[in-house]
Amino acid sequence: MLSDNNNDIKDLLKSYLITDEKEYIELLSKVEKVTLDNVGDKVYFRGLIELSNYCVKDCYYCGIRKGNTEAHRYELSVSDVLSAIDVAYEQNYGSIVIQAGERTDIQFVDKISEIIIEAKSRYKDHLGITLSLGEQSKETLQKWFDYGAHRYLLRIETSNRELYYKWHPNNALHDYDNRLSTLYSLKEIGYQVGTGVLIGAPFQSVDDLVNDLVFYKTFDIDMVGMGPFISHPNTPLFDKKETSDDLKHRFDLSLRMITSLRLLMPTINIAAATSLQAIDPMGREKAVRAGANIIMPNVTPQKSRADYQLYPNKPCIDEEAWECKGCLEARLSMVHRDIGFGEYGDSPHFFERI
Ligand code: 5AD
Ligand code: FES
Repeated sequence: MLSDNNNDIKDLLKSYLITDEKEYIELLSKVEKVTLDNVGDKVYFRGLIELSNYCVKDCYYCGIRKGNTEAHRYELSVSDVLSAIDVAYEQNYGSIVIQAGERTDIQFVDKISEIIIEAKSRYKDHLGITLSLGEQSKETLQKWFDYGAHRYLLRIETSNRELYYKWHPNNALHDYDNRLSTLYSLKEIGYQVGTGVLIGAPFQSVDDLVNDLVFYKTFDIDMVGMGPFISHPNTPLFDKKETSDDLKHRFDLSLRMITSLRLLMPTINIAAATSLQAIDPMGREKAVRAGANIIMPNVTPQKSRADYQLYPNKPCIDEEAWECKGCLEARLSMVHRDIGFGEYGDSPHFFERI
């Protein structure tokens, strides 16, 4: 099995991450077979609802961080969220993801409970519910699970503790061990657990990314969403010299991360991160070709989409939900993939590990 000192595997993964274009194309045909054999030829959709951009944390890369006084803050009402859930259901998306900046106050926790309870009573087991709501207490996570949420995404952001604190230097707000222990709690409760990392962010090396892949494997994760870092002007990590070549490099590295991970963990769900599309209009489709099998079309009411700006140049801000559906269908047919409409599209890996 893979352990931290498994240098052969690490060397192999590193060689995947630094391949040139010609070698990478060869790797793509290999990954296509592994993807089709293990997770099939369908891409599953999760309707993404960005519930609120209030956040108690201060991640140095993130546009909705607490310290960004320029951000226009919003929070959707329960009825707004339920309408968005209806839209996702009507589009036959099979699952939703509820995402928000981090908050742990009781009003917030109760609001999420109310939404889960109502969504479950409307759609029973015809709509999967994934949450992406940051670090929460085990009791809260258990409660949401009992009400019917069954998947949870919490990006570790990096598996390198020192690097984590460079990106999150405020020790009063950020605790790497708490983030890790939240991931363990999610597993103990019985969620399908997703994590992920930023790719190509400041101070990060290729070896860090290799270790991130090893982290996914040793933690035995069910789902991964990871994408390129794009610097945001109202954050401490803003790089005013960032060039299109920098972004292209991070984009290519992200595709190689996806391909390497699919080869390393053939049966997990891998999302094509939206930040890929912020760099390349065909970003998500290229991610599917690289080994991803999940896409998260935005179903947030249009009035709030532009305010949920984690990084600049976020795509699909002006489209209505139904436009996203048609657009994605056409795009995915270009990469010869069907869409698993109306299905949960659970991670096969989850059923292997429980
Ligand atoms: N560039 C790319 N991804 C970002 N995220 C936050 N800020 C940025 C950025 N500037 C990612 C984080 C977070 C997820 C919701 O969005 O990894 O976990
Ligand atoms: Fe909100 Fe990072 S800034 S969780």
